Amino acid sequence: MMKGIILAGGAGTRLHPLTKITSKQLLPVYDRPMIYYPLQTLLDAGIREILIIVAPDRAGDFLRLLGSGKEFGAKFTYEIQDRPEGLAQAFLIGKTFIGDDNVTMILGDNIFLGNETFLLNAITTFAGGARVFAKEVPDPERFGVVEFDAHMRVVSIEEKPRVPKSRYAVTGLYVYDNTVVERAAALKPSARGELEITDLNNAYLRDHQLEVCLYDGFWLDTGTFDTLLDAGITVREFRRAQTRS
Ligand code: G1P
Repeated sequence: MMKGIILAGGAGTRLHPLTKITSKQLLPVYDRPMIYYPLQTLLDAGIREILIIVAPDRAGDFLRLLGSGKEFGAKFTYEIQDRPEGLAQAFLIGKTFIGDDNVTMILGDNIFLGNETFLLNAITTFAGGARVFAKEVPDPERFGVVEFDAHMRVVSIEEKPRVPKSRYAVTGLYVYDNTVVERAAALKPSARGELEITDLNNAYLRDHQLEVCLYDGFWLDTGTFDTLLDAGITVREFRRAQTRS
């Protein structure tokens, strides 16, 4: 079975004062709270058991908004991330929830629009190892960046490199087999003191177990004032185009 995790921890300090009294992932993106978008991506992929990882002082807000999951035809579980110590920490926090299953993690501030079928296929055909999604962007230095060889084979992934080796960013959607729990437990904190998802992906890569799929739908991250505003505008455009067609 495939379970889901939405990572919505963190203090969101880059968005102060917007995030002084609530989480970034609960801020509006056009007509919905931000977390509705990654949640919809998991639901569209047929995932019904979802762990939502939140910051300690914001847990009540998430619970009031999302509840048991019944309204969404799903079952939600909540865990607290006491300190934001890296994306890969989600698999340590989520160990009991994951149990013996595979898991798809999506970041609570990542919005995927317009290619649900692609993601549904990518998740339902997953047979083991790790599958991540890369997208060509103008500002790869803000992300995990994929290095390819001349035959478009993946050589490495670098986290926020000053000189990116390609324009392909690793998006915040990750599909992992059950070995993710032990692989995450074996990670050492990076120079910035975090368990890096990029180190986890490189661990799969070293074992020839990492597949990078190129994603051609819309992908928006919402970590800055500008990208938050852009996301709202893009969603509005997207909805208008849908109602026209
Ligand atoms: C994180 C990951 C990065 C990935 C990005 C996607 O960065 O560390 O590899 O490309 O999410 O949104 P962060 O948003 O935590 O800076």
